[in-house]
Amino acid sequence: MTTRTVVVTGAESGIGAACAVGFGTAGDRVAVLYHSDAAAADATADAVRNAGGAAMTVQAAVDDEASVADAFAAVEQAWGPAEVLVNSAGLNMTGVTVRQMMLEQWRRLIDTDLTGAFLTSRRFLTGRGEVTGPAAILHISSIHAYAVRAGGADYCAAKGGLTNLVETLAIEEAPRGIRVNAIEPGMILTPMNDRAMKDAAYRQSLERNIPMGRAGDPTEVADLAVFLASDKARYITGSRIVIDGGLSLLQAIGA
Ligand SMILES: NC(=O)c1ccc[n+]([C@@H]2O[C@H](COP(=O)([O-])OP(=O)(O)OC[C@H]3O[C@@H](n4cnc5c(N)ncnc54)[C@H](O)[C@@H]3O)[C@@H](O)[C@H]2O)c1
Repeated sequence: MTTRTVVVTGAESGIGAACAVGFGTAGDRVAVLYHSDAAAADATADAVRNAGGAAMTVQAAVDDEASVADAFAAVEQAWGPAEVLVNSAGLNMTGVTVRQMMLEQWRRLIDTDLTGAFLTSRRFLTGRGEVTGPAAILHISSIHAYAVRAGGADYCAAKGGLTNLVETLAIEEAPRGIRVNAIEPGMILTPMNDRAMKDAAYRQSLERNIPMGRAGDPTEVADLAVFLASDKARYITGSRIVIDGGLSLLQAIGA
């Protein structure tokens, strides 16, 4: 198998870090894009190398056009145009209802979780130019793209918008062999679920609502990402793949 260049955003923690290591295990070159924690990004890069891949770390704020451009330029200078983009960078919902939500908060979340997906996708595509050959974009969305939650208007709107961005990109880029898909996790044990990671009783109270009886592990999302970016998934584009232990199937049960 040829070595690919894989750009992973939000790769200093959680699902992004697990994806970086997953692609490292596949023998790829992984650009570990991180927001603010350089030491955590170094740890991810070491794990990628230990898994058998090559790694570089690059700082990038996905909501900042110039920062995204600089990060991709650094990757392309080292390794050439990327074949795979995994966009995992994101902020969680705040639990604030629309009545209480400040415009600044709304913008912060949309800028990161939706505009960040636009900026990273666009720069990935322009970096490829007319380069041919298989390529893949994966956005880590959420079951909350369609299963809405009170207090999550910012997050649900961003992830819902991401669905349409993914589908539009899929039809635009299909003729060039670039596949674009969304992964929609349920509850995954990452720093985004900090309280559940630290408080077993709280975690179990949530896990009771999951048909499979447990939260997911970030490596399970990474396994899906590696599959979706591989030739085995060559006919899958514009899809939203749910990975949630059955959680979202229960959304209309209870009344
Ligand atoms: N953990 C879950 O239960 C869960 C469920 C569904 C969807 N998701 C999605 O998975 C993705 C990854 O989340 P996670 O669970 O790994 O959480 P996480 O908090 O561990 O990772 C999020 C990463 O995004 C980075 N980030 C935040 N703002 C950024 C910005 N402006 N620019 C660049 N990077 C930025 C953070 O530094 C962090 O590394 C997110 O998009 C999240 O919405 C997570």
